[in-house]
Amino acid sequence: MGPIYEKTATSPVNIAVIKYWGKRDSVLILPTNSSLSVTLSQENLQSKTTIRASPDFKKDRLWLNGVEEADVTKNKRLQNCLRETRRLRKEYEKKLCEEVGAENTIPLSEYNVHICSENNFPTAAGLASSASGFACLVYTLAQLYELPVSDTELSKIARQGSGSACRSLFGGFVAWEMGSQDDGSDSQAIQVAPKDHWPELEALICVVSDAKKGTSSTEGMQNTVATSPLIQHRIKHVVPERMKSMTEAILKRDFRKFAEITMRDSNQFHAVCLDTFPPIFYLNDVSRAIIRVITEYNSSNESGELKAAYTFDAGPNAVIYAPRENIPEIINIIAKYFPGDIDNGNEYFTDPYHLFSGNQVGKQPLPRGFNEQIIPVFAPGSVKQILHTKVGNGPQTLTGKADSLLDEQGWPK
Ligand code: DP6
Repeated sequence: MGPIYEKTATSPVNIAVIKYWGKRDSVLILPTNSSLSVTLSQENLQSKTTIRASPDFKKDRLWLNGVEEADVTKNKRLQNCLRETRRLRKEYEKKLCEEVGAENTIPLSEYNVHICSENNFPTAAGLASSASGFACLVYTLAQLYELPVSDTELSKIARQGSGSACRSLFGGFVAWEMGSQDDGSDSQAIQVAPKDHWPELEALICVVSDAKKGTSSTEGMQNTVATSPLIQHRIKHVVPERMKSMTEAILKRDFRKFAEITMRDSNQFHAVCLDTFPPIFYLNDVSRAIIRVITEYNSSNESGELKAAYTFDAGPNAVIYAPRENIPEIINIIAKYFPGDIDNGNEYFTDPYHLFSGNQVGKQPLPRGFNEQIIPVFAPGSVKQILHTKVGNGPQTLTGKADSLLDEQGWPK
C-alpha cells in the first residue's frame, strides 16, 4: 500500500450572543448583520472529522454519524466547501511544482475523498451541529491539503457551508464581520478574545423537550428578511451599536453589560421571528419560564448585579451564561422548577465539574429574596438535560492512529 493522505480534527460548537439572522446572498451565505459568539468547550460538545484523499477512491463519499449520504453531489453546501478548498490546494500545488518539481508534488486536489464525521452529542438533543460540523470539514480539509492560509481565510469557506460555522474556526470570543463586498471576500470571522481571556465565564445548556420539528434557520431567516419590517430596524440601527458595546464588554470582562446585551439580543431575535409573516415560534412555554426564572434571579438579589444571561437560538433550548460562582445556584434553581425525568436520571445532570455532593441538585433552598411563586414547578422531563460547559478552544488536529474514524482501507471503522 502507498502512502496515506489523511487528517483527523475536531471543532467546537458556538452560541451567539449577538445573533446572525438574515442573508443578503443565500448562495455565498452573506449575512445582513454582523454577529458575535462564544465558543464552547469541546470536552462536552464537538464534531470530529477524518478525511482521506486517495487516487483509488471512485467518488467523494460522506458518512455523518454513521450514515452515508446517498449522493454528495446534491449537497450544495458541502460541494461549495470542497470546491473552494480544492481550488486553494490546486493553487498551492502549482506553487509547489515550481519550487520542488512535479514529481515531488502530490496532486491531492485531483483525488476523491472519504469524509467521516461524528458529533459527541446526541443530534436528538436538538443542539445545532451544522456550525461545528462545517467548521470541522473545512478545517480538516485545510490540514489535509496543507493550505498555507489563515483561519480567517478558512472562515470564509466554512461560512459557505453554514453561516454560523465561520465562527467555530476560533476559540474564545468570535465576531463574524458581515462585510460589504458582493463576492464575500470581507465577510469573515475574527477572534475578539481568546479562551483564557475570561475564564470565570461559564455556560449551562438546558435541553428543552420539543415534540415537533421547528422551522430550519435557513428557511426561517429567509422568511424574516422577506416579510418583517422590524428586521430592517435591527440590521440598520441596533446590531452595529451592539457589536461595539459587546466587544467592549468582553474586553473589559464586564458581565453586567455582556449579560444585558445577550438577553436583549436574544429577545430581539425572537421578536423579529414573531414579526415574520406567518410568524415563527422557536420559544415554548418551558423556554419562556426559563426566561422568567433568570429574570427573577437577576432582579431579586441584593447586590443589584446581573448574575446570569439567557439566550435562545432557533429552538426551545436555553443557553445560560454566568460567572462560575453563580453556576451551582443556577443549576439548583433550574433543577427545582424543571426536575429531571426518573427514566433519564443519570443523563439529566452529570455534574462534570463536581459541584454537588450526593444528590443535592435541585434540593437546596432558593436564593434569599427569590419569589418562589414566579412560575409553577414543571412536569418532570420538561428540561431533559442540563449540560455544564465552559469557554473553549478552536479546532484541534488529532494525530493518534486510534483517533481516525477510518480504517486502513479508508472506510468507516
Ligand atoms: C439562530 O448558521 O444555522 O443560531 O447559514 O442558513 O446555515 P445557515 O444558518 P445557521 O443559522 C444560525 C442562526 C442562529 C443564530 C446564530 O448562530 O448566530
